[in-house]
Amino acid sequence: MTHCSVGQKDDRERKVETMEKYLPKYVPVFTLLALSGLLFLLWNITSLESWNCQTASTFYQLQNSIQSVLKTSEFLLPVEFNYSFCAHLGQEPSAEEAREENYLLKSIAWPEPSILGLPLRQSSDPAQSYYTIQDPGELQVGGQFVVKVQMQNFLGQPKKHGGDFLVARLHTPELAAGVAGQVYDHNNGNYTVFFPLLWAGVVQVELTMIHSSEAVMVLKRLREEQSDRVFFKSLFRSGYLSETTLCNLCLPLKQQPLCNYTDPQTGEPWFCYKPKMLDCDTRINHSKGGYKKHLLTVNESQFFHSGVNIKIPIHSAGVDNVTVLPASKVRTKGKHLKFTPSGYYYQGSWKPLSGVVMRQFNGSSVITQCLRGKMVYMYGDSTVRQWYEYLIAHVPELKEFNFHSPKNVGPYMAVDSNHNILLRYRCHGPPIRFTSVFSAEMHYISNELDGLRGGSNTVVVISIWSHFSTYPVQVYIRRLRHIRRAVIRLLNREPATLVLIRTANLQKLDPESSMFNSDWYSQQLDAVLRAMFKGLNVQLVDAWEMTLAHHYPHQLHPPPDIISNMLNFVLSHICPVRRKRRQG
Ligand SMILES: *[C@@H]1O[C@H](CO)[C@@H](O)[C@H](O)[C@H]1NC(C)=O
Ligand SMILES: *[C@@H]1O[C@H](CO)[C@@H](O)[C@H](O)[C@H]1NC(C)=O
Ligand SMILES: *[C@@H]1O[C@H](CO)[C@@H](O)[C@H](O)[C@H]1NC(C)=O
Ligand SMILES: *[C@@H]1O[C@H](CO)[C@@H](O)[C@H](O)[C@H]1NC(C)=O
Ligand SMILES: *[C@@H]1O[C@H](CO)[C@@H](O)[C@H](O)[C@H]1NC(C)=O
Ligand SMILES: *[C@@H]1O[C@H](CO)[C@@H](O)[C@H](O)[C@H]1NC(C)=O
Ligand SMILES: *[C@@H]1O[C@H](CO)[C@@H](O)[C@H](O)[C@H]1NC(C)=O
Repeated sequence: MTHCSVGQKDDRERKVETMEKYLPKYVPVFTLLALSGLLFLLWNITSLESWNCQTASTFYQLQNSIQSVLKTSEFLLPVEFNYSFCAHLGQEPSAEEAREENYLLKSIAWPEPSILGLPLRQSSDPAQSYYTIQDPGELQVGGQFVVKVQMQNFLGQPKKHGGDFLVARLHTPELAAGVAGQVYDHNNGNYTVFFPLLWAGVVQVELTMIHSSEAVMVLKRLREEQSDRVFFKSLFRSGYLSETTLCNLCLPLKQQPLCNYTDPQTGEPWFCYKPKMLDCDTRINHSKGGYKKHLLTVNESQFFHSGVNIKIPIHSAGVDNVTVLPASKVRTKGKHLKFTPSGYYYQGSWKPLSGVVMRQFNGSSVITQCLRGKMVYMYGDSTVRQWYEYLIAHVPELKEFNFHSPKNVGPYMAVDSNHNILLRYRCHGPPIRFTSVFSAEMHYISNELDGLRGGSNTVVVISIWSHFSTYPVQVYIRRLRHIRRAVIRLLNREPATLVLIRTANLQKLDPESSMFNSDWYSQQLDAVLRAMFKGLNVQLVDAWEMTLAHHYPHQLHPPPDIISNMLNFVLSHICPVRRKRRQG
């Protein structure tokens, strides 16, 4: 159901009429357009040559030309808006929701430098920054290890404020072992990193500056002031008439009326400009419109240089490795640790520390045995679609049902009727930057969850983060609030339902992708996700640590080695080992 257009009184009445009924009204307009289309065809005779005239009918060409004329309208140009404008468009949060929102926003508040607009030479330079290993003493498995970081600027002077976005891992290449470290910002240019010691051997520190504090301030500005820097569009069509207009979570009113696609169940807002000729109910599909350009001033863009200040290693002022001895008998494992990771890699396999016994599902028959009788519902972005694809690729008995879905969009479904396995994937609702999603297939995860019976044979997997990176965090909080409510309802109906949530992961960044997909944005959303699902009976799959601890370069879509570890973890939860065994 859609609610039509602000400022057009007769829309509601018109909507109840069928398209056929009022189309005749547009016949003169249509004829005019057809004529202008013909003129357009003749005028653009050169571009015609590239068309395949033999197969396309004249009428089809005519229709195409009409679309081309309409597509050039100013409707498709991104428009300026800011979040204070958008805020009143969505539903008002209740007092309790506002309290939680404030708490969450405070918990992810990022330190700001006292002076904004520092020139490049005074900004953080990873090449001149360094770390030192704190007097390690005798290191043993089960203990921890501390590294001090001193950030410096391009002039080689110590930084006086915090806010640099640093990540760290400790690893032993020969053992294919790795673990994430925890970075603490002292807000004076110094940082401390804590590493847990989980295996014996020579361990090496790897410290990376993802962005300088100066760059983070720019990303923060973009998030508030340019939340439409990724924009969307929808195709509207009725008969031979079609139009494309701009869509987003919120749109300034300008002169054009809006189509209001606010979800009646959740109140999640979504708008498109109303097409000139067509009704709001004629929306066919949704797609990514594009990415805005020229977002940065010349000064700001200096903070985003590949090879200079995006994802650059920080080196040690002395040694970069230490030797860890096996645990002595007296030492109790895990005591006094400042930071407990969710797991680590050893011999290339993820070893969770959450208590679950990790099993290796290394063949189609083991996976099939595990999934026997299960219904697995996957919802979200392409990072969970990868899991669906992994299972399809590794279990030949799972036959994909062909929905004629657009490539990489879905929805997808696969069935193994011999073993009674159902596997489904569906993308989350807007904002979604997919190439083309049919409007009829744009469903919100929370509404989907409300349609599940649940039970011990139902597995729900959710991954929703990447497409929210360009919006103020409030937008993500609202979305998660709706999903969390639906998860609670589901677990209340059927407490035996297994719900897994995949967290955000790190990715490859260059100056442009940083504007839209920076790990800094992901990390902010991820912190919110973890806080909002804390204490609920859901299992987090820590994609953040699994990509940070691994030796592979960061990628939005992690490579197969990481995916197989994620799936082994997921399957280990679906088919847990009953008898408590010692972990290998
Ligand atoms: C944001 O939009 C509101 C409402 O249109 C306007 O009053 C305000 O000045 C804008 N703020 C910025 C920073 O552009
Ligand atoms: C850009 O940087 C230069 C050099 O540091 C400075 O003189 C200028 O004022 C800056 N421009 C803006 C708009 O901040
Ligand atoms: C930061 O660390 C460096 C090197 O360890 C030290 O010399 C300096 O005093 C520290 N600065 C502050 C403000 O603590
Ligand atoms: C859009 O529709 C929703 C729900 O019907 C309504 O609450 C909201 O005020 C509408 N927004 C605008 C801008 O018309
Ligand atoms: C550890 O560091 C020392 C001193 O920098 C170096 O000589 C040695 O090769 C390193 N060992 C490994 C295994 O990287
Ligand atoms: C799968 O792993 C088990 C032990 O975890 C091993 O015995 C078996 O050979 C492996 N199978 C394949 C096909 O790799
Ligand atoms: C939208 O739907 C139309 C008609 O089905 C299709 O031709 C088009 O490729 C789809 N995608 C976009 C981005 O318009």
